[in-house]
Amino acid sequence: MRNALWFAVVSVLAVLAHAQNQSTLKDAYKDCFMVGAALNPAQFTGQDQAEDAIIKTQFNTISPENVLKWEVVHPRPGAYDFSAADKYVEFGQQNHMFIIGHTLVWHSQVPKWVFEDDKGNPVSRDVLLDRMREHISKVVGRYKGRISGWDVVNEALNEDGTMRQSPWMKIIGEDYIEKAFRFAHDADPDVQLYYNDYSLENDAKRKGALELISKLKAKGVPITGVGTQGHFHMDWPSIEEVEGPIVDFSKLGVKVMVTELDIDVLPQATQSQTADVSLKVAADPKLNPYPNGLPEAVQQALAKRYADLFGTYAKHCGAVTRVTLWGVTDKDSWKNNWPVRDRTNYPLLFDRNAKPKPAFDAVIQRAPKRPS
Ligand code: G3I
Repeated sequence: MRNALWFAVVSVLAVLAHAQNQSTLKDAYKDCFMVGAALNPAQFTGQDQAEDAIIKTQFNTISPENVLKWEVVHPRPGAYDFSAADKYVEFGQQNHMFIIGHTLVWHSQVPKWVFEDDKGNPVSRDVLLDRMREHISKVVGRYKGRISGWDVVNEALNEDGTMRQSPWMKIIGEDYIEKAFRFAHDADPDVQLYYNDYSLENDAKRKGALELISKLKAKGVPITGVGTQGHFHMDWPSIEEVEGPIVDFSKLGVKVMVTELDIDVLPQATQSQTADVSLKVAADPKLNPYPNGLPEAVQQALAKRYADLFGTYAKHCGAVTRVTLWGVTDKDSWKNNWPVRDRTNYPLLFDRNAKPKPAFDAVIQRAPKRPS
């Protein structure tokens, strides 16, 4: 009798341990939020089999790292190239994923011609608004009903919370943001529309973003959510700072999503917490201390950092609707080349051989327990 009972207990424990080992990110957090990753073409065209398998198993939402940016889909006036973007969307549909579009109006990766006339002079407000409307209508319209959420405006704010003086802002004025949202809504009235930015954990920038979103809401602009990108370091932001945008934006009645999560484990190349793509810092061996592998102590610290972040997101279950990692494995991350080129960084949950890292296990273990 005692043996039978013991056998039953051991069997249940084995099944539970197995279930734990088999847990996936999307299942572990399914009662709280979607979990996703940003993809590059090798991943959604099946060239990278190992990563393809991770994506299909672990994630229920995807973002395009580059293929839906203006310079890729609309490189010249009147010339659109949707070849890569179509494959991205097909991949998402085949795998029943929540497909994100990124991004419609940004200061980076937009060709110069967009802002200039044929003599190279800045175009008028009306011309630029027409170009914006035409681009948004064409791109959002093409994927109507298939892409479920768009990053409409990306990174419109400076670190001090003032408006970034991008060509959009300089030529059209502050209402370029409102216009972009309205054009996107006209192109697909059912699609979710987001404002997306980094370092919203810092007070000054968050204050600027809160004012911006409040004004948009007051004017009845169709905005669904705010993306807090989440390009983090080991020691910034604190967990309290991570909670700031979640609490503050959800009070405005918008969804909050973590749209570009990664954690930089390398020494900071600058004092600032920016993710501005224009920043470039010269190579220096001191800035690249782990070219041959991550020391175990750092690996464990990264695992704890990731678990603390996911624990915090789960604490705000319902307010946080999606957590998307900016890449799949450490091999592909933009963090290997920014702000210093050719470093060996370790910012994601899967290593260079597409194997789950201790951080992956830690994130799974931190998932909310379901009632049995
Ligand atoms: O496509 C060209 C290719 O033809 C050329 O041979 C190659 C040589 O360097 O460059 C390729 O373009 C690169 C592009 O990624 C596609 O791989 C650019 O140099 C490179 O600068 C570009 O970087 C992207 C960056 O945005 C540029 O703005 C990163 O992959 C991408 O991760 C990053 O993503 C941004 C988000 O969109 C917004 N938030 C910040 C985030 C990180 O910067």
